[in-house]
Formats: sequence, C-alpha cells, structure tokens
Amino acid sequence: MSSSRSGLSRVLVAVTVALVSVSSPCPQAWGPPGLQYGHLGQSVTLCCPGVTVGTPVFWFRDGEPRLLQGPDSGQRHELVLTQADCTDEGVYICRTVDGAVGGTVTLQLGYPPARPVVSCQAADYENFSCTWSPGQLSSLPTCYLTSYRKKTVPGVDDQRVNSSTGPWPCPQDPPGTARCVVHGAEFWSQYRINVTEVNPLGASTRLLDVSLQSILRPDPPQGLRVEPIPGYPRRLHASWKYPASWPHQPHFLLKFRLQYRPAQHPAWSTLEPVGLEEVITDAVAGLPHIVRVSARDFLDAGTWSTWSPEVWGTPSTGSLPKEILAGGQPPAGDQAQSKPEVQSQAGSLTPSEPSLQPGPQPLDHQVPLEQVAMLVSLGILSFLGLVAGALVLALWLRLRLGQKNGPPKRGFLGPIIPVDKLTRAPNL
Ligand SMILES: *[C@@H]1O[C@H](CO)[C@@H](O)[C@H](O)[C@H]1NC(C)=O
Ligand SMILES: *[C@@H]1O[C@H](CO)[C@@H](O)[C@H](O)[C@H]1NC(C)=O
Ligand SMILES: *[C@@H]1O[C@H](CO)[C@@H](O)[C@H](O)[C@H]1NC(C)=O
Repeated sequence: MSSSRSGLSRVLVAVTVALVSVSSPCPQAWGPPGLQYGHLGQSVTLCCPGVTVGTPVFWFRDGEPRLLQGPDSGQRHELVLTQADCTDEGVYICRTVDGAVGGTVTLQLGYPPARPVVSCQAADYENFSCTWSPGQLSSLPTCYLTSYRKKTVPGVDDQRVNSSTGPWPCPQDPPGTARCVVHGAEFWSQYRINVTEVNPLGASTRLLDVSLQSILRPDPPQGLRVEPIPGYPRRLHASWKYPASWPHQPHFLLKFRLQYRPAQHPAWSTLEPVGLEEVITDAVAGLPHIVRVSARDFLDAGTWSTWSPEVWGTPSTGSLPKEILAGGQPPAGDQAQSKPEVQSQAGSLTPSEPSLQPGPQPLDHQVPLEQVAMLVSLGILSFLGLVAGALVLALWLRLRLGQKNGPPKRGFLGPIIPVDKLTRAPNL
C-alpha cells in the first residue's frame, strides 16, 4: 500500500480499523457514534458509550421503563443479548449509577459478509473489468476491496528480472459501483482478482483467475449499412465499422459474422466476411431483408460479440417504374430510384407488407438475370439429356439387331469384333 495513494489507502486504513474493532467486543468504527452492529441469531454485546471500561451501569430499552440489566450484574458497562433477533434491533439507553453519565446505543443486526459473486469481461485487448454482486444480503453497510495480481508461471517468470506481480488495487470506477477496471493488462498473462466484501461483522474474499484472451468479447460492430445494388435484384451490399472500443491495430484484428434473412422468414443465412463489407448474392428479390453482424478476435480468442442492432434493406427493384410494383412499397421508394434505401429497424418499413407473399417469388415482372441464366442452363441440360437418351437407344437397337442376325456373340463388344476379324482376316 503506497501512502501517496491517499484515497484508497485511507479507505483501507478505515477498514483495517473496522476489522480490528470487530474483534474487540464493541465495534464502533462503522457509522455514527452510538451505532452498533450485531450478527442475527448470535450473541451481541452492547457497550455503554462514554463510560470507562468496567463502570457499572443500568440498561433500558428506549421508551420502556423495565430495567434490562442492573449495575450489579457481572457485565458492568456491557449488555449481552443472547441469540439476537430482529426484535432486539433498536435504541438502548445506559446510565451510570449516580446518573451523571448516560448514553444511547442503536443496535442494527445483519449477517457477516459472504463471498461475493465475481465475473470479469473484456471488450478490448488491453483492459478488462470485473463486476460483482453479494453472495448473500447482509443488510449492513458494506464495502468492497478490489485488487489484482499477476500470476507467475514457475520457470517462465522466474527468469524475468524484477517483473512485479502486484497486488495492485483494481480501481472502482465510478466509485461505489460494483465494478472495477484493470488497465493495460497483458494479453497472454494470467491475473488473480481479489474481491473482498467487508462489513462491520467481518470480511470475505473471492479470488478469480482471469486471462484476457479467454474473457475477450468485443463489442458488436457499429454503423451497419445495408444498401441495394442497382440492377441486381438479388443482391444487397452490407458494410460496417469496427466497434469504437476496439482500436484498429494490425496485431489485433477482428473477424466478422454476418446474418441475413427475408423479414418474413425465421431462418438466418450466415456469411463469414473477412473485411468490413460483404455482398449478399442470394437475397429474395423484392423482399425487405434483416441484416446483423457480430465480431470476434481474428485468432479466435474469447467469444463472439453480441449481434449488432438489426438493419433492414431491400434489394434494388431495378429500373421498373414504380406504378407496376405490386402493392405498397416502402415510402422511401418514392424518392429517386438511384438513391439507396437504407432502413433501420425503427424505420417506416413494416415487417410484413400485406401484398407480399410469404414465398420467395419475385414481385417485379422483369425476369432477373439469375433466373434467365438458370432457364438457359436448364434448357441446355435437358437438350443434352435428350441427345444422350437417343444415343443409348440407338446403341441398344443396334445390339438387339446384331444378336438377331448373327451367331450369338459374347457381351457388349459383339458388334465390333467382326469388324476386327474382317480387318485381320486377310493378313492370316
Ligand atoms: C485501455 O484503456 C485506456 C484508458 O481508458 C485507453 O486509453 C486504451 O485505448 C484502452 N485500450 C484499448 C486497446 O482499447
Ligand atoms: C528489483 O527491484 C528492487 C527495487 O524495486 C531493486 O532493489 C532490486 O535490485 C531489483 N532486482 C533486480 C534483479 O533488478
Ligand atoms: C484479498 O484482499 C484482502 C483485502 O485487501 C486481503 O486482506 C487479502 O489478504 C487478499 N487475499 C489474497 C489471497 O490476496
């Protein structure tokens, strides 16, 4: 603990004092004077404030005349409550025998700290944060001490000259939130996080081992745009940017996953683009599509990001006049046809246009290029099939004829053998 780091060390000192005073029978350091904390269900000792240790006192509950404990009890200035329950919470009054000195004690009951539940996450390759929640509610004032140290690998780190391994404080930022941040962590190092819950009744520590490359989860890509490509009714161009939290560096790249589906269809198609853009080539002509994208470390460290917000886009409807378009096209289509229409989810486009059929048939009367190509290739295929069939038929007929006319010959090559014989016969 460096004494120059005033804020945190002051907290630490205060807590140390608190911890020390917990071990003495009358904890006083938490909260205003006269406030005492006790463990529900256990024996609690109240101390009369302002009197010297051992001075005999009377004890009363505030507002009740009944004497709880007289000065002749062996406890002197202390009042012991066995198995304190919630009815014991409240204000107690103590008074010396001569009535000269008195004081009040307010008792609040709760539980000692339980080990907090801690998890850590990293949205970039240099910084990570840890968050925690109580393992059990103590209903007492609570603070958390957070620190981390670098774990050493025996044999590897031993040789390193003076590489410090901490512990260093993990600053809670902003203070009072259940979150602390480690800046400038080494990507391949292991760290041990210490989150210690402290309350007037004690402290409880949770240790968690963390390595940046295993918890890394980038933020989703930003600025996703989906645009039609004029003249291509089955294509959409999608582009996006690195998340702002991921500084673009040659050694730490992201890879991406892009998903798209027609708005009415539940199933996503997935592409794994290498760069910051992708062309979808099998969009359903005329239908609005939903597109989203997620990111992951290029070398597969950590996990995929969540999906970006979904963005809508409709493939180009070509140069078709807009009156012929079946049914209600999105209002954006009324603007210049060449202008790409990009709609966000909150945009004017409704998810299911009443006139749109659920099937994937295109709405425009123009036959798309891809379909023409498909028809042509189908035609060629069937022509080739016909030709092949005719050839097989001819061969078969020839075989049958050859078998009927000549003597039985072996196998398929029968009709060819006589030719062979004929050519050889003169040489014999
Ligand atoms: C880590 O955090 C620091 C301070 O907020 C910031 O300047 C730096 O860019 C972060 N590193 C990365 C890789 O995002
Ligand atoms: C390590 O650092 C300490 C002070 O931080 C110094 O006294 C010591 O000589 C250093 N040891 C080596 C091997 O550099
Ligand atoms: C965790 O932190 C607490 C509070 O700073 C400290 O008392 C304790 O020794 C630490 N435990 C380990 C194992 O580092």
